[in-house]
Amino acid sequence: MSIINQRFLQALRCEPLDRPPIWLMRQAGRYLPEYLQTRAAAGSFMNLCRNADLASEVAMQPLRRYQLDAAILFSDILTIPDAMGLELEFVAGEGPVFNKPIRTDRDIHALPEQGVLEKLDYVFAVVRAMREKIGAQLPIIGFSGSPWTLACYMLEGQGTRDFATARRWLWQRPDAVQLLLDKLSQQVIDYLAAQADAGVDVLMLFDTWGGLLDEQNYRDFSLRSMRKVIQGLRQQHGLDLPVMLFSKGCHSQVEAMIEADCQGIGLDWRANIDTVMAQVNGRVAVQGNLDPTSLLADTDKIEPIIRSRFQNVVRKPGYIFNLGHGLLPATNPDSVSQAIATVHALAAEQG
Ligand code: CP3
Repeated sequence: MSIINQRFLQALRCEPLDRPPIWLMRQAGRYLPEYLQTRAAAGSFMNLCRNADLASEVAMQPLRRYQLDAAILFSDILTIPDAMGLELEFVAGEGPVFNKPIRTDRDIHALPEQGVLEKLDYVFAVVRAMREKIGAQLPIIGFSGSPWTLACYMLEGQGTRDFATARRWLWQRPDAVQLLLDKLSQQVIDYLAAQADAGVDVLMLFDTWGGLLDEQNYRDFSLRSMRKVIQGLRQQHGLDLPVMLFSKGCHSQVEAMIEADCQGIGLDWRANIDTVMAQVNGRVAVQGNLDPTSLLADTDKIEPIIRSRFQNVVRKPGYIFNLGHGLLPATNPDSVSQAIATVHALAAEQG
């Protein structure tokens, strides 16, 4: 399908543009009253993810409010471990919990390699429903958790502050962790290829916990498995869709990420966007990196914040405006409008 709004795809090829593409991590989510209403109708977050009508509806909600240049699949990164039998639950106030986390090597060996994709059919149904609603208007981003970030939740059983259990496994049982990452990498390859078949245009790996690792472990475990995923997509499935890596807290590893053959890199808010854009110099696209808590400032403060952070990059080829992490539930939707309008104004002034 030939997408009408090419801006995001052009930025991923580092082509010059009159303004950067704009989309926002967690653009569909709890800061929107209409999202809360639809989630209530679905009964729970996972019910929402499993209902193609409602999930595609919430994916459309931010597109109706704002001039965004990409849609993102509405789902979660923890769908793969759930489909592998760990039984995902979202406990109110506690976030994700697995009823059957990995406790021993034997649990890793026992993880299924066949029949996982079939259990994820509900995700591909959401992609198809989104494509039906969006038509050719906008590109759709498909995604997965990175193998390491999935492993973090599977070994820990839930989100924790520093994933000390998962990190301990790395030092105590590196071979077992590699086996887990290899098994996950193959699932991620097939999962992303199936999303591509269902109609997504760009793929993103969320490596939220890559930044918990020292440099060598980041390369040997997290980045190595993401590189395998990219290679698998290209070699096993013949796919040439652009792939973006978002390793939170890893901007000192940009060179290694580029070597992994990705087309775009996401930055969290701690990176200096000017410095990284200069370093990357058009080899891959760079996405980010507004601090999501900045949008909790008074709405009239948003414009000067955006101006001070992004004035040098809005016209740089390969720049994609986004946050450094997901939109927070407490965000005022008007502040999001203000941020987007300011990016438009900044780029127009530099015309
Ligand atoms: O960005 C989007 O709009 C697309 C949808 C999306 C969700 N989760 C929906 C969601 C995406 C891309 C994710 C990725 C995801 N999920 C990550 C990686 C990015 C990141 O945030 O670091 C991670 C680590 C998860 C796991 C996860 N899902 C956690 C830890 C939580 C609970 C914490 C929280 O933010 O609420 C979720 C729940 C979740 N995923 C919600 C949404 C909209 C909120 C659920 C609700 O409505 O109650």
